[in-house]
Amino acid sequence: MNDNIQRTLNLLMKLGRGMLYEHSPDNLLIFISDLARDLVDAERCSVFLYNEEDNTLYTRFAHGVDKITLPADKGIVGYTIKSGDIQIVLDAYSDSRFYSKIDDEIGFKTKNLLTVPLFNREEKIIGVLEVINKKVGFFTNFDAELLLLSANYISFILENMILSSKIRENNLKLIYKLTAAAEFKDQETSLHTKRVALYSEVIARKLNVDDVFIERVVIGAPMHDIGKIGIPDAILNKPSKLTDEEFKIITTHSSIGYRILYDKENPFLKFVANIAKDHHERWDGLGYPNSLKCEDISLQGRIVAIADVFDALTSKRPYKDAWSFDKSFGQIMIDKGTHFDPHLVEIFNSSMDNVLNIYNNFREVS
Ligand code: C2E
Ligand code: SIN
Ligand code: SIN
Ligand code: SIN
Ligand code: FE
Ligand code: FE
Repeated sequence: MNDNIQRTLNLLMKLGRGMLYEHSPDNLLIFISDLARDLVDAERCSVFLYNEEDNTLYTRFAHGVDKITLPADKGIVGYTIKSGDIQIVLDAYSDSRFYSKIDDEIGFKTKNLLTVPLFNREEKIIGVLEVINKKVGFFTNFDAELLLLSANYISFILENMILSSKIRENNLKLIYKLTAAAEFKDQETSLHTKRVALYSEVIARKLNVDDVFIERVVIGAPMHDIGKIGIPDAILNKPSKLTDEEFKIITTHSSIGYRILYDKENPFLKFVANIAKDHHERWDGLGYPNSLKCEDISLQGRIVAIADVFDALTSKRPYKDAWSFDKSFGQIMIDKGTHFDPHLVEIFNSSMDNVLNIYNNFREVS
């Protein structure tokens, strides 16, 4: 068999294996870009995405450069977007469409290039796949065919990336709106929920936990009191001490929050529901709603418990004045091993500088 064809087949087989074993979309994109480059024997490969909003093209991945952005009507890539056709350019610098500014910026010399448009499932152009500088000779129609094959995979990956980031964006928006609804009701400010998230993050970052855990704590901590939506205003905003009866009603906000947030199909919501449920549990088992003890309390619940009380103490409430930083910090230390997980209190103690920074930089303006 012809060497060239043998090599191509080997690369295509590698492509199939990569699709099976590479699960992260970012890694998959790099994997396929490498392969596209090697399939057509090019020096570099770039994946451009079209941003309709500001009419630019930017690289989602490119060999040898961090990020390239250019106006969507410029360059061979811009022409590819406009025409929706494959472009084979034999001599870039004698082609008036070529946008040489990028070469100047990154200190590279483009000799020849090949581009193919990237389409989504609705046949709409979402970007361009480009390979630069054939190592020997020029790009051919056969190269274009091979590049189109890679382009199909890349379009598929990109579209999924775009969809998941839209879903994520929408989820976050909903989360913030829900949190804002609870704040509105409680007269707590968004600064309060922000600080609770930041204090919680300080603790979480010093634990042996993965990035997903930290992200979930940061996004979820602001929702710990979401259940206060279900508590009458007259109780929440009472300017004095609560009766036992009233306090009993307030304690239901933990379980209410849990019921609002819990979703058995969604690991993130499960995680956050446990923050709402557990943030008033105590290490010694004297908390609510379930009188859980020690490690039976979710780690995220134990973390947010410290952050929440520290912030409640340093803040003014309808029923109390703000305590000083030192008195509040000292109270957390006093409650080590009774109210709070002793290990987490030690971490909090060793992070006093970070905590003080947050305390100073996210104050209420009154
Ligand atoms: P919150 O104001 O966000 O307070 C959260 C937690 O911080 C409290 O949980 C408590 O553990 C701690 N904390 C707040 N203020 C103080 C304080 O002056 N001293 C001490 N040692 N700890 C304090 P807790 O007690 O379960 O209360 C839950 C929620 O119930 C409070 O959230 C607040 O909304 C309400 N609440 C509690 N006590 C009163 C009260 O006397 N009057 C009114 N109007 N509301 C209260
Ligand atoms: C062009 O398409 O004209 C230049 C694009 C590039 O340098 O990557
Ligand atoms: C989301 O954006 O849906 C939450 C992020 C997470 O799963 O931690
Ligand atoms: C951990 O260090 O990951 C657990 C913290 C604790 O249970 O106190
Ligand atoms: Fe609470
Ligand atoms: Fe709170």
